[in-house]
Amino acid sequence: MDRIYFDNAATTPVDPRVAQEMAKVLMEYPGNPSSIHREGRTARTRIEQARKEIAQLLHASIGEIFFTSCGTESNNMALKCSVRDLGVRRIISARTEHHAVLHCLDRLETEGVIIDYVRQESSGHIDLEHLKVLMDQKDAPKTLVSLMHANNEIGTMLPLHQVAEWCAARDILFHSDTVQTMGYFPIDVSNTPIHFLTGSAHKFYGPKGIGFIYINSNNQIKPFIDGGSQERNMRAGTENITGIVGMAEALKLKWGARDKHKQQIRTVRDHLAKRLQAAIPGVTFNGDPFGDSHYKILSVSFPASAKSELLLFNLDISGISVSGGSACTSGSDAGSHVLDALMPGDIRTTIRFSFSHHNTVEEIDRLIEVLVKHV
Ligand SMILES: Cc1ncc(COP(=O)(O)O)c(C=O)c1O
Repeated sequence: MDRIYFDNAATTPVDPRVAQEMAKVLMEYPGNPSSIHREGRTARTRIEQARKEIAQLLHASIGEIFFTSCGTESNNMALKCSVRDLGVRRIISARTEHHAVLHCLDRLETEGVIIDYVRQESSGHIDLEHLKVLMDQKDAPKTLVSLMHANNEIGTMLPLHQVAEWCAARDILFHSDTVQTMGYFPIDVSNTPIHFLTGSAHKFYGPKGIGFIYINSNNQIKPFIDGGSQERNMRAGTENITGIVGMAEALKLKWGARDKHKQQIRTVRDHLAKRLQAAIPGVTFNGDPFGDSHYKILSVSFPASAKSELLLFNLDISGISVSGGSACTSGSDAGSHVLDALMPGDIRTTIRFSFSHHNTVEEIDRLIEVLVKHV
């Protein structure tokens, strides 16, 4: 029997049309984009075309998109360059951010940056009143707000536009980790005053190891990686042209199919929620899945028992791939820093199901059969 993949928040399979375009680039663009001969110029033109395509989708200008190696690097660049180059001395963030942000904050704190964590509801929603109190703190040094658009473990979303406007009104910089929402929700930087956004191709059916950062042109930061003058001097290193073209192609395709996919994914997710509630007593959903939440994620807690502790393992043996938290922690026994922050002391077994448009209700029915046996 085919395996069932419900871990699309960890990564998504590459769209075959993306792979095809990438294969073409591998074979037909041998030049180094920094070379001035024809092969170099052709490769450069292809990269700039990809940049333009991404910029157009976001309503950004071409000079505001920089290619990086992944979402993690993009988040590091936004936070560390804000401190180093833009005078930021205080960052307001949340305990449920991805480690790509949280571990940067830990590092910056050791360098004297003040980190203030905003209060959150148990659903993961930011306490917006507390956020405003923190933003309005008198005599605060130059501040940046870093809050993710959708949480990768429970899906809870931030009112991005509203927070962006609050930051703009107070002359506070705003970075949002949009790795989980890029391509899934419309983002228009021409009417959302945001300073930094981040994207990672492998979350929207593109290749792994390529990402980008949007940096609003009013922010003049210095190079994040020193060396050659690639990425307009901002990030040295010969460009991953295959990845860059693949990422732009993937984002275009995802953007175009967004509404159709949303309906398909919601149908599958809602079917799972309904069947779980009917089949397994005591099951609960984390976050705010039917409120302001990413539709591709359903985080489910099962009553604690010796059997449920082995759930992830038993699902895998039965051909079903899911995750215990985020992909980055599921390889270790670290548990979920997100659930620990929102529901300290909770000992239930939590599984994150995350979907793509490839999933079907028949797969959910198969999952329920297996779950009933193993919970
Ligand atoms: C919210 C969020 N931010 C950042 C990342 C890191 O992205 P990448 O794997 O491209 O480094 C992830 C990936 O899991 C994520 O979900």
